[in-house]
Amino acid sequence: MPHFLDIHKTDKTQLRSIIDHARAMKQGRDGHPKGQPDADQPLANHMVALIFEKPSTRTRVSFDVGVRQMGGQTMVLSGADMQLGHGETIADTARVMSRYVDLIMIRTFEEATLLEMAEHASVPVINGLTNRTHPCQIMADVMTFEEHRGPIAGRKVVWSGDGNNVFASFAHAAKQFDFDLTFTGPEPLDPERAWDGLYTTERDPRKAVEGADLVVTDTWVSMHDPQSARERRHNQLRGYQVNAELMSKAKPDALFMHCLPAHRDDEATSEVMDGPHSVIFDEAENRLHAQKAIMRHCLGV
Ligand code: CP
Ligand code: NVA
Repeated sequence: MPHFLDIHKTDKTQLRSIIDHARAMKQGRDGHPKGQPDADQPLANHMVALIFEKPSTRTRVSFDVGVRQMGGQTMVLSGADMQLGHGETIADTARVMSRYVDLIMIRTFEEATLLEMAEHASVPVINGLTNRTHPCQIMADVMTFEEHRGPIAGRKVVWSGDGNNVFASFAHAAKQFDFDLTFTGPEPLDPERAWDGLYTTERDPRKAVEGADLVVTDTWVSMHDPQSARERRHNQLRGYQVNAELMSKAKPDALFMHCLPAHRDDEATSEVMDGPHSVIFDEAENRLHAQKAIMRHCLGV
């Protein structure tokens, strides 16, 4: 079953063809109204379930719009409102949902929920973020880098901040798309050991960003982190804020990315987020195009 569970679980050639397809589809829509259907309607007669155990703006809207542009229909479901939240097993939910819909996108807390859904569904399952990874985001990020700067292979990407779920998918992408990834952040917030070997660590953020083609950060407190961690995180991460001074140490034409939502002037200053290096809204737009290509890959249409 061609699920899209993680970047390291999808073949390199397929990842490349998804990105290229996404760019072609985006170009094909250039200048068209957002509500105008794609001419080829590849998802005509397809029903897609979008399940959310956590809040979402970009993932929810971009998947919904993407399916509709391709001629399919969607239903957006909150995990808490489904029997999923009241004791029915994930396996049974997967079997039942597979009788109604052609594709399931799920945003969950535990990765185990996603994996169990994929194991027992007879339709493709797409990872819309777990506590551990966020592959759709990084597909959009690779697409965005390449739109602005050409091939990402051989480039230097620097992540400053928490070694979280979004970082993990960047680490997987570094291997699959062949770029260099540096992590800079405090030791207690290091990425999980499972991703060792996919990136290098430099504790000094100023040294880390030297020669960077792309500087990336994310919120200091993720949805799965306890809110009680907020003050401690701020103290640990303050020195890793992406501000104009830090960006000035990267290459002059370095890009800045953030998957959003952001806490402006915490992990990155508004000066950087709204400045000349920033491509944050192109990243958000490209969620739509990248995910359309991911859905077509999963459905073989
Ligand atoms: N970047 C991202 O996944 O945003 P949402 O949480 O709004 O979906
Ligand atoms: N690391 C963040 C990403 C949100 C898109 C979180 O998991 O909350």
